[in-house]
Amino acid sequence: MKLILNNKNLQNIQAEYEIIFFKSYKNLDKNTKIILNNDFSYIKNKFYFCFERKKIYINIKKISKEDLKTRYANLAREILKYKINSLKFQLIFNKNILDIQLITEGLILGSYEFRKYNKTSVSPVNVYISYVEKSKDKFNNINKLFLETMTICNSVNYARDIVNTSPQNYYPSCMAKDALELSKIHNVSCKVYEEKSLKEMGLNAIVEVSKASVHDAKLIHLQYKPRNAKFKIVLLGKGVTYDTGGLSLKRGDGMVSMKCDKAGAITVLGIVKASAQLKIPIEIHGVLGAVENMIDSNALVPGDIIKMGTKNVEITNTDAEGRLVLADCILFTNKYINKYDYIFDFATLTGASINCFGGYSSVIISKNEKLIKDIQKSSKKTGELVSLMEQNRYLEGRLKSSVADIVNSPKNKNASSIIGSMFLSEFFNKDDRLKWLHFDMAGPSFRREVWGCNPYGASGYGIRLMINYLKKLTKSEK
Ligand code: BES
Ligand code: ZN
Ligand code: ZN
Repeated sequence: MKLILNNKNLQNIQAEYEIIFFKSYKNLDKNTKIILNNDFSYIKNKFYFCFERKKIYINIKKISKEDLKTRYANLAREILKYKINSLKFQLIFNKNILDIQLITEGLILGSYEFRKYNKTSVSPVNVYISYVEKSKDKFNNINKLFLETMTICNSVNYARDIVNTSPQNYYPSCMAKDALELSKIHNVSCKVYEEKSLKEMGLNAIVEVSKASVHDAKLIHLQYKPRNAKFKIVLLGKGVTYDTGGLSLKRGDGMVSMKCDKAGAITVLGIVKASAQLKIPIEIHGVLGAVENMIDSNALVPGDIIKMGTKNVEITNTDAEGRLVLADCILFTNKYINKYDYIFDFATLTGASINCFGGYSSVIISKNEKLIKDIQKSSKKTGELVSLMEQNRYLEGRLKSSVADIVNSPKNKNASSIIGSMFLSEFFNKDDRLKWLHFDMAGPSFRREVWGCNPYGASGYGIRLMINYLKKLTKSEK
């Protein structure tokens, strides 16, 4: 679906269908009332396609912004179903201006379809938005918001496309290629570290996790450095292009959607892409661990011990590979990225995060109260949900190993989402720990259902939330 905003009168725009917004039945004209009368109980809460009149009526009576966004998304899905090629509507409604951000997000995110393996031809749908405004400034302000929202939505759909791509078509070198492609954007650069360099740098865990895969692991360092940067932040991403669990093999259905295990890294690609295109004045470092967790006779085995920084880590479960990969990303950051203000990690880390909250929100964990509050605010604004979990003193000691410094996964599986974050804590310097917020996005990054403005499969979770956060950050004092 393509949206086109212009300053033209609605009458001067050619389109197959017109969308009519309404808030109450009373405000509709007589003829419309007659036509809709029979169906009114139905459209009271929804929209109505009048094929004879080539009009679509949509009820936007006071409902929450999120509900309205979902309604627009459902409308977009319906438009695709009926194979309508072009539509038009007026942005001014009852002398007020409609929320262009909501409409754009609903339509663009709702109309997303993953078509790589399902190439039945779909003709493009053009949606013309008429906004007749004499004041150039007013028009430009709305147009700016519209284009910004489009940029963000395109990044979300970009991430969805990648995460939905099957593991036989997407492995670590593909991620490196995609990251290098982003470095064509102004002020973005990218460096890819191969296994040989990773070993030399002492980043052993990524290489160990990758041992049984025919695809070599990569560590990808993406940088966006605008000249006027006010803050410097680091985004770490778990990029496990497929997670079989390794020798601690996953069972049947649990493995089916494990192409989703790269979603954290791809969210970071999406955030860097949108930030650079929007020229957000913040220096951003993306550090991605790209690796495939497979089985073979040379695989990492439970009982192996890996040297990670100053610590020896006993591998008790090869399916807890994400924390190993991310820990290497942290060690890389400690060594090669100078003083930063904040650090976030994005990972599909634990199934327990889904069990706890149902799968529609990520689990966030941080020791920084302000950071938590700010992220919660951005979550409320964008509708990308977060649920807070906390580490606590009594869980300390759970990671103890009898043969090494720590284990990667304790026998006691309670609180496994918190334990995952505690493992990562071990690799931060003390001061940096307070700059850190952890996103366990195993639930919302990939769902086998259509929900809100998200499709079946990958959602592109976290991009809208983080862009909102970064934009707010640019307005705050250091
Ligand atoms: N990639 C999985 C987590 C996951 C589960 C993502 C479901 C998306 C949907 C992760 O590597 C994993 O297997 N974690 C283990 C940790 C356990 C061994 C402590 C888990 O959640 O069972
Ligand atoms: Zn795993
Ligand atoms: Zn995993």
